[in-house]
Amino acid sequence: MENIVIAIDGFSSTGKSTIAKQLAAKLNYVYVDTGAMYRAVTYFALQNQLIGEGFFKSEELVDRLKEINITFKFNKKLGFAEVYLNGKNIEDAIRTLEVSKYVSPVAAISEVRSKLVEQQQLMGKGKGIVMDGRDIGTVVFPDAELKIFMTASAETRATRRYKELLERGHNLSYEDVLENVTTRDRIDSTREDSPLVIAKDAIEIDNSNLGIDEQLTTIMNLVKQIIQK
Ligand code: DC
Repeated sequence: MENIVIAIDGFSSTGKSTIAKQLAAKLNYVYVDTGAMYRAVTYFALQNQLIGEGFFKSEELVDRLKEINITFKFNKKLGFAEVYLNGKNIEDAIRTLEVSKYVSPVAAISEVRSKLVEQQQLMGKGKGIVMDGRDIGTVVFPDAELKIFMTASAETRATRRYKELLERGHNLSYEDVLENVTTRDRIDSTREDSPLVIAKDAIEIDNSNLGIDEQLTTIMNLVKQIIQK
């Protein structure tokens, strides 16, 4: 069976990673969460006091990008690859609201983007990959055989993220999560370098009222059509 590249883009908390992970498992493909890579750089910036309330030493971050080595290691128990920063597992540490708060300004820096995009393109060279993010179908793999763009209302997405964070033991309000989701959407969609836009040849899926199984069936049917061509 021919291996293809599947690009899944969309707004924050649209459930891209849930679908992408399951799709990759079904197809026996590699799954890459590119948001985790931008979060890893943000985590590095926070750890090194390069970003925080009211300040962002973006030039220093750019100078220190060479100190950042992001890798993924498959965790058999979890069924997906966890992200590591310089050898340290940061899969949980990057899912905090603090990292979410600062990730969009970090992801708007061109030097950060070019470093991560280069690594992403290398990972997808052999195809057989499901990659999710904001610019996968437009910038990273403009020739991807299948491009999906996921949407859902801001309230639906904030409710999902809020529940997920509560389950992880974080103490926060729904309003803070909604504010973070809408602010990130705005910054991600209006930045100069690789803004979040729907690729011309992407298939849009609004999953506000769709369950995971329905989404998976829809996407698997699209995959089958492409592979059988
Ligand atoms: O998918 P996520 O919510 O974990 O992504 C975190 C942030 O990273 C998101 O707000 C924007 C940025 N991002 C990006 O700019 N490009 C990508 N390909 C993936 C994520």
